[in-house]
Amino acid sequence: MPTFSDRIDGLRPSPIRTVLSVVDRPGMVSFAGGLPAAAALPAWSGSVGPETLQYGASEGEPALRRAVADHLHALGVDTTADRVIILSGSQQGIDLVAKLMIDAGTITAVDDPTYLAALQVLRLYGADFTGLDDTGLADASLAYVVPTFANPTGACASGPERDRIADTCRENGTVLFEDDPYRELAYADVDRTPIVARMHGASWIYQGSFSKTFAPGLRLGFMTASPDLFDRLVMLKQAVDLHSSRLSQQIVLDAITGSGWQDRLDSLVDFYRDRRDGFDELLRTYFADLADWTSPPGGLFFWLRLREPMDTRRLLDEAVGRGVAFMPGEEFYAGPPTLGTMRLNFSHADHDDADRGLRILADLVAERFDRRGS
Ligand SMILES: Cc1ncc(COP(=O)(O)O)c(C=O)c1O
Repeated sequence: MPTFSDRIDGLRPSPIRTVLSVVDRPGMVSFAGGLPAAAALPAWSGSVGPETLQYGASEGEPALRRAVADHLHALGVDTTADRVIILSGSQQGIDLVAKLMIDAGTITAVDDPTYLAALQVLRLYGADFTGLDDTGLADASLAYVVPTFANPTGACASGPERDRIADTCRENGTVLFEDDPYRELAYADVDRTPIVARMHGASWIYQGSFSKTFAPGLRLGFMTASPDLFDRLVMLKQAVDLHSSRLSQQIVLDAITGSGWQDRLDSLVDFYRDRRDGFDELLRTYFADLADWTSPPGGLFFWLRLREPMDTRRLLDEAVGRGVAFMPGEEFYAGPPTLGTMRLNFSHADHDDADRGLRILADLVAERFDRRGS
């Protein structure tokens, strides 16, 4: 059994939530909960029935959970619909896992660099960070990984690297938490099999998101976990927000089970691949003498390593003053940062804006290089 955080000693299932899970049964009279009268809910147009505006299950809508489970099963993940939780964005999943696992000083293995808002949450609960090498994974209680088109680097872990992480976590009882919001945005044919699909019998958590493939403003993601962890994650979700928006879940369910979903994914990938290639071309025009990078096989980011190690946090104000925003790479390190890195998102700006922005940014970097040289 994994070692949970001390606060989990005080975790109890919500009695209200347990009762509410039966109030929809035919013929049931409910004096439980604080449900508004069905007749008092606002009338809505289209396919939205009154039940969509009523309180719902903490785990999420059954049909959406089934659709997610089918998708995960096809990827080789050992799960079923009753082991899926719908999240209010996958950012919520990071918070739930941190609550479950982390006390002050809990050793947590992360990639360096890694997703900065995960570091923010893990730090908040008191994590002590170590690396994803064999020693780090063996020492850690929890390993947080974004192996597929990572944020910020865009990198995709190879098959052998995925095997190594799975084996080392399994052998050492380290809970593996795989965060996978970018997997559908694949521009090259690479191994994307979730690491957790290699972890039968071990403790693991896997999450994905509808933000990058559909609409981030709906705030929906999903999580599944090994049986030893799942019920506690549901209780934590109950305590956070009772459940995710049923309206958002209805919209996402209609989209992902509709006949146009695969076409949407295919054209999204084509669209972003073009953006990536256009961005790469512009980088070669403006940054060829200033930085090194590789074209990412998926995801939404280029990771630039400047030829001179300057702290790019110090460039940001000046860049914003000239009308360009970027993310200083130094923010993505759990430990002391490698200086001179930048994360550039290529999905949002169109070609003309990307051209203008990269020219301004390259001028700024070149000026700083000159100043240091003189
Ligand atoms: C690695 C990673 N995890 C989680 C999230 C959170 O996504 P959301 O809460 O929109 O599902 C992001 C967002 O950019 C991300 O890059």
